[in-house]
Amino acid sequence: MSSSSDTDAPVLIIGAGTIGLSIGWELARSGTPVRIFERDEPGRAATWKAGGMLTPDAELQFEEPELYQLNHESLRRWPSFVETLEADTGIDLGFRTEGTLTVAPDEDSAAAMERVYRFQKEVGADVERLTGAEARDREPFLAPHVAGAVYTDDAQVNNRALVRALVNGIQKYEGTIHSSAPVKAVAPDATSPAIITNTGERIEGQQIVVAAGAWSRQIEGLDEAVLPPVRPVKGQIIELVSRPTFDLRHVIRGPDAYLVPKADDRLLVGATSEEKGFKKDVTADGLYTLLEGALELVPGIRELSIQNLGVGLRPGTRDNAPLLGPSGTPGVTYATGHYRHGILLTPVTAQEIAKLVQTGTSSEWLEPFLPSRFADRTPTV
Ligand code: GLY
Repeated sequence: MSSSSDTDAPVLIIGAGTIGLSIGWELARSGTPVRIFERDEPGRAATWKAGGMLTPDAELQFEEPELYQLNHESLRRWPSFVETLEADTGIDLGFRTEGTLTVAPDEDSAAAMERVYRFQKEVGADVERLTGAEARDREPFLAPHVAGAVYTDDAQVNNRALVRALVNGIQKYEGTIHSSAPVKAVAPDATSPAIITNTGERIEGQQIVVAAGAWSRQIEGLDEAVLPPVRPVKGQIIELVSRPTFDLRHVIRGPDAYLVPKADDRLLVGATSEEKGFKKDVTADGLYTLLEGALELVPGIRELSIQNLGVGLRPGTRDNAPLLGPSGTPGVTYATGHYRHGILLTPVTAQEIAKLVQTGTSSEWLEPFLPSRFADRTPTV
């Protein structure tokens, strides 16, 4: 990949969500020119509607061992990523480390939580089981009836501050972000691939990175056999205003909703997971499910005002894991399909994809997530 002849030509990144922006920042700060093309405004799609949870143990799923390892590696890289980006931009990322309480509101969900807890212990996760009373000691806003909880020592970040900082960081190193600039197609070439914008402009670069999230599959010119198998998975989220006296400290996760207190006084209640294509409506059923799920964990939120209702489209894949690496189309790398873990996977994706683009060297972290794992299957989502 570094065999590319013209290293003065920019790397062209399609998509300015957390993945495209962070790859752009990593490249720009180490001297590689970048141009990022975004169909809307930077970071205003799934990244803006995310919870910002950095919680690999709490979100551990059965049968996803490699993704779990990648999630953990990225969490390990978050503190130095924050330190570098904050030093670069002076923007506080709202990185918080109070941890997560996965809460069982009743005995039935306590049994389910116990099964997950045993699996978490099996894979070596650092988890602590608490009785309902112990959980309430740590987080007094929990409902009096909760049956138990599992504590995980993890983190969260302010997703919107992250967008602002990455945009600022890219501009500091003279990278360019083009807003309202959808890319219609790529024109593949191993040494000087190009993109074609919606207005018909052809722009050549040394390489192209597709980081267009749920929209990655719509780009024309990608080899049909290796189209990214990415589909939109709708998530509705509610933004409450957290009063100064309503000082929820932990991320709280329950069976039907999670609550994420942000440093900027937003209290997020998320998120639904719906297969509705690109439809972005807020529904009564979505809000009902989230509020009911959140109120049974933290009843005090009924007093808070609603500031906003949002919908994000996560880029889901068939195995719930991202596509990271050479796409099979000459000159084009994929960094897409991060599904539920886009914010968490930002540092490891940015650093490993930037390294791949600059040196042609892949890493053991990318190996299980190469797009070629889908190449021999029918090109459907
Ligand atoms: N990772 C949280 C979500 O996708 O809702």
